[in-house]
Amino acid sequence: MRQLSDPELIAPPVGLYVHMPWCIQKCPYCDFNSHSLRSDLPETVYIEALALDLEQEKTRLGSRQITSLFIGGGTPSLFSARSIAQLLQHIQQTVSCSSTMEITLEANPGTVEYAKFHGYFEAGINRLSIGIQSFCDSQLKQLGRIHDSQSAIKAIDAAHYAGFDNFNTDLMFGLPGQTIQSAVNDVQQAIALNPSHISHYQLTLEPETPFYYSQPVLPIDDDIWAMQLACSELLIDNGYRQYEVSAWAKDERRCQHNENYWKFGDYIGIGAGAHGKLTQTTTQQITRCWKQKNPRQYMHSLQVSQAFDGASTIEKEDRAFEFMMNQLRLKDGFQIDQFSQRTGLTIDTLEPVLSSCIKNNLLFRSKNQIGSTELGWRYLDTILEQFLPV
Ligand SMILES: C[S@@+](CC[C@H](N)C(=O)[O-])C[C@H]1O[C@@H](n2cnc3c(N)ncnc32)[C@H](O)[C@@H]1O
Ligand code: SF4
Repeated sequence: MRQLSDPELIAPPVGLYVHMPWCIQKCPYCDFNSHSLRSDLPETVYIEALALDLEQEKTRLGSRQITSLFIGGGTPSLFSARSIAQLLQHIQQTVSCSSTMEITLEANPGTVEYAKFHGYFEAGINRLSIGIQSFCDSQLKQLGRIHDSQSAIKAIDAAHYAGFDNFNTDLMFGLPGQTIQSAVNDVQQAIALNPSHISHYQLTLEPETPFYYSQPVLPIDDDIWAMQLACSELLIDNGYRQYEVSAWAKDERRCQHNENYWKFGDYIGIGAGAHGKLTQTTTQQITRCWKQKNPRQYMHSLQVSQAFDGASTIEKEDRAFEFMMNQLRLKDGFQIDQFSQRTGLTIDTLEPVLSSCIKNNLLFRSKNQIGSTELGWRYLDTILEQFLPV
């Protein structure tokens, strides 16, 4: 319930996430909701299910306009350009979309060639995110990838030729047996191929993945830190700017869709296991919902009723932590006004932790802006723990 003294929740921009839950084969480090394709891709049925899912979401969305679209997975590039065109057409007919919105599709180099990228471009996709991980063949093998470095380079060339001037390449570092030099070589090779965006993720051993149960030998922490420093230097020297823990953009071509998540914006999610978050200004509530995770169950549930698997409200006492968990990932931090508008709380809610972190040079506050200092950036988890509700 909103108290009279509480700031009013104001609806933030809303993105649309579409989840495609299949891959040719499952990588041993990955805990995304993705499943190895054991038979033919149920392409038509799934695209129809997504359309039904969106129809149901439309009621909750009302007249709000979608400001970004992200087709992720899994491996969305398993889907033909025709299916993606159908999906985009349906989205544009069903909900109001900004005419200039960023439309990203995730692609795996083992599933694409020029004609497919060209088809996606013609369909209206204006940004690609290509999962490269590494340009070292032995490393790619160890990661269980379905492609080698040559096909990764070919995929990036094909993206350029197809007309994409805005695309991301995903790289991982801290890989099994990786040296500092080989991590640097990966970034060097990516830069040479001129993507507008590079995501540089440290490999994490996620619970319930094959890498977790049978752990590969990873570089020692000091070497991982040295990799991060050396790669950052290289990226900076080549005109990339880090705007989030793992995200680097050239010419300010940030991923608008992901940036909206990190700014505690709203999103609806369609597809197996997709999550959504919506701010309801009439009830002054922020709700989350999620869809059936298993692709078969998801498609079946949509035919008989609804794809919802659950929903919850983000209670007031959890909002400050959730906001900070996202926003502090961004180099520039956040505006104080936005904290109030997106959480319905006054900035004093962050006290006394905020003042203590500022005193210890972990956070900065200038006029209307709060964010992590260089020191704080290294200890993000420690800062965040302090904002956990008691
Ligand atoms: C959902 S995947 C989409 C890309 C596409 N499926 C592919 O792998 O080519 C998004 C990215 O998350 C990163 N990722 C996945 N699992 C990870 C892990 N355990 N640690 C760090 N990064 C990971 C990889 O860089 C991957 O490209
Ligand atoms: S291809 Fe991408 S989504 Fe699929 S298992 Fe590998 S990392 Fe995960």
